[in-house]
Amino acid sequence: MAHTFHNFIGGRWAPARSGRTFANSNPATGEVLGEFPASGPEDVNDAVEAAAGAYPAWRLTPAPRRAEILFRAGEIMRARKQDLARAMTREMGKVLAEAGGDVQEGIDMAFHAAGEGRRMHGVTTPSEMPDKWAMSVRVPIGVVGVITPWNFPFAIPTWKLLPALVAGNTAVFKPASETPKLAWHLASILEEAGLPAGVLNLVFGNGAQVGDPLVADPRVPVISFTGSTEVGLSIATRAGALGKRVALEMGGKNAVIVMDDADLALATEAILWSAFGTTGQRCTACSRVLVHERVHDELVQHLADGARALRLGDGLDPATQVGPLINRGQVERVQSYVKIGFDEGAKLVAGGVPATEGALAKGCFFRPTVFAGVRPDARIAVEEIFGPVLSVVKVKDFAEAVRINNASRFGLSSSIFTRDVNRAFAAMRDLDTGLVYVNHGTTGAEIHLPFGGMRGTGNGHREAGHTLLDPFTEWKSIYVDFSGRLQRAQIDIV
Ligand code: UN1
Repeated sequence: MAHTFHNFIGGRWAPARSGRTFANSNPATGEVLGEFPASGPEDVNDAVEAAAGAYPAWRLTPAPRRAEILFRAGEIMRARKQDLARAMTREMGKVLAEAGGDVQEGIDMAFHAAGEGRRMHGVTTPSEMPDKWAMSVRVPIGVVGVITPWNFPFAIPTWKLLPALVAGNTAVFKPASETPKLAWHLASILEEAGLPAGVLNLVFGNGAQVGDPLVADPRVPVISFTGSTEVGLSIATRAGALGKRVALEMGGKNAVIVMDDADLALATEAILWSAFGTTGQRCTACSRVLVHERVHDELVQHLADGARALRLGDGLDPATQVGPLINRGQVERVQSYVKIGFDEGAKLVAGGVPATEGALAKGCFFRPTVFAGVRPDARIAVEEIFGPVLSVVKVKDFAEAVRINNASRFGLSSSIFTRDVNRAFAAMRDLDTGLVYVNHGTTGAEIHLPFGGMRGTGNGHREAGHTLLDPFTEWKSIYVDFSGRLQRAQIDIV
């Protein structure tokens, strides 16, 4: 019998009011891992009430004290890194080393956000009047709603929750239904680190039953969401109509540009890692290669050979290089895109089918897939697949590569391989994406730099970096007149 886990509301662990549950399972083996509350609007209501109740005291807790709790949480994460990584691999399939990286991002964010407790800088500036003081300070907003995906089930919640909490907000956290266990671990760690009751509330369940009531609740002025474009835009529309602040991080269709002077061995290695790491299920994953015609054939050969050589299996096995997709639905989606690729006349040079031999038959495995001869406007070169499918597009020069890169509806990450420093700087200037890499793949963002994308990837917000507090704070400008008389700004100019 699988273990049953509970929501965390107002400092207490409790089942959904309805008593209903759902199961999570291992996508490599099909094994059921646990039962979690299938919560509803009444549980969201309880959680928002708890968060609103905890806000006045948390807001007035000095920021360095709030930060101490995050430092402790970071220490606990660090001590448990291996256990958390194993739990993650079992729950969502990514290989153990990558799961460790996901946890490490959480640790890094805990310390980065905790450091803000003793910074959270405001601005002082001269007043235009004599004997008058002027400054602006950051203030928390209130109850923050956090909705997160399954592909980075530890890191992404920390990017949102920890900055929100250190700034003095309280939160209601709705994690992806595919990865409840890692969310449970994160809430448990913060509880253990000493977070007061009600400051963080965790409600398990699906989008319709938990996400929607959270988005609609008038006591929740900020929604931070990472996930699909479709859901993100729907949240933005509904929350926007209520005047809420919505920070979105959505799809990507990230390209690696390979110029004719590139180190092809390095480019091949980096592309394979960016395209097939996390089985292509990163919003930063490389899914397009824009390669100069002079090195096209050679690169395609390297990519096909490399993709075919990747070992699929359970991510807990150290020999595995590519784990399963998250569920059967994703396998079908990837399969349907392979069919679209064929229909569009692209040439399959590796993969293209689910992997079902031996123990793989129990899991959601798909062979790393490479299409060559892809037109830049083909659906497989334009739409986010979120799986191990790479489209190679031939270009005649740098200008064409930049044009195709920037024509994407999405603008998260891009990369260029070249040995020409002038070309590299032109790329840094001209590639319209929130992340740009030179001689490195499209994945691997570090948490102390802003993270997010242009165009359809987001709506102008950035997470992490020096911008980490922006989605979760308001600016308050304060004027103190110590002249003892009425001084009319713009009028009594001395
Ligand atoms: C995501 O896929 O949503 O840069 C986040 C990277 C990771 C974060 C990815 N540090 O690939």
